[in-house]
Amino acid sequence: MAIERTFSIIKPDATARNLTGKIVAMLEAAGLRVVAQKRLYMTRAQAEGFYAVHKERPFFGELCTYMTSGPVVVQVLQGDNAIARNREIMGATDPAKAADGTIRKTYGEGIERNCVHGSDAPETAAEEIAYFFAQTEIVG
Ligand code: RTP
Ligand code: MG
Repeated sequence: MAIERTFSIIKPDATARNLTGKIVAMLEAAGLRVVAQKRLYMTRAQAEGFYAVHKERPFFGELCTYMTSGPVVVQVLQGDNAIARNREIMGATDPAKAADGTIRKTYGEGIERNCVHGSDAPETAAEEIAYFFAQTEIVG
């Protein structure tokens, strides 16, 4: 399997409940290594740019409000098959439909307040990593 990098966000609902460490522990237990990480407040413009793919969706405005409602932890995760592996440990978007043992099933509050984001493909992973990190901030 190829070593990949993926982009992850620990979202405001999770930082508000002080779950950063518990979520990182689940990512690490799944074989992913945190090779870059910082905590920040997303600006409205950053959130709108990040979720531009969803701008026609009815939940876009609410999603950007939620993502700027508190601090987030942005991360680069590295490991074998990291993009798919991270999606697997995250679980389905809606925590009620997520598999047992996943982050969203364990800690998610609802379809929006679902604890984590993870890139869905190699192209989006590269774009999303570059949106938040300089190459010099990523230490594998
Ligand atoms: P993500 O991009 O955050 O990893 O999550 P995802 O692929 O599982 O979900 P996606 O369809 O890309 O949606 C992005 C985020 O928007 C919020 N959402 N709200 N109110 C709703 O119906 C709704 N649907 C999605 C969630 O926070 C979701 O993770
Ligand atoms: Mg998505």
